[in-house]
Amino acid sequence: MADEPTDFYQQVFENNRRWIAEKKASDAQFFEHLAQGQSPEILYIGCSDSRATAEELMGAQPGQVFVHRNIANVVGIADLNALSVIEFAVAHLKVKHVVVCGHYECGGVKAAMQARDLGLLNPWLRNIRDVYRFHKAELDGIADEGARYRRLVELNVEEQCLNVIKTAVLQKSVLATGLPTVHGWVFDVRTGELIDLHVDLGAKLDDIRGVYDLGTER
Ligand code: CO
Repeated sequence: MADEPTDFYQQVFENNRRWIAEKKASDAQFFEHLAQGQSPEILYIGCSDSRATAEELMGAQPGQVFVHRNIANVVGIADLNALSVIEFAVAHLKVKHVVVCGHYECGGVKAAMQARDLGLLNPWLRNIRDVYRFHKAELDGIADEGARYRRLVELNVEEQCLNVIKTAVLQKSVLATGLPTVHGWVFDVRTGELIDLHVDLGAKLDDIRGVYDLGTER
């Protein structure tokens, strides 16, 4: 049985009508322009967590950001959804930036740190458990559990950035045009701050290609 509608649910359509009026008040042609097409500058890959909104925390307007969200901002090797989003954003929309944005207090990362059977979520969370295994020495060396949890959030972002640059579409585009640039960010839900981890992926691309070279020509 479905949950009872919440108070917020009751407001949604009213909010939508107010939003339309506000947009038209500041730009009478707002929706005519929107209907002409999209040319977003950023592909944002983030967590589905309701607190880690993509557009609102960046102050982005409709048309500016192409968005993909899933549990714990994972770019999985067999995830046709995420890989199709990357393919379309890089090859067709020609975004200039690809961002992987994690967030502190991420339930997906926390679940992956616990020894529990979570059913269908097990294979998904294994992506993050693998990140823990890659960085086990560093993480096990952090005594404070909260600090270790935050560090895993950051390392997961870095590893998912690497998964982005392992794709052929990304390698081909960067070698041909120098773009897009890949960035790793963390959103701190406790302060609202967006933190750039300054993952130097340009330097890592040659390393990655040493192993994951997909025959893309220089
Ligand atoms: Co999350």
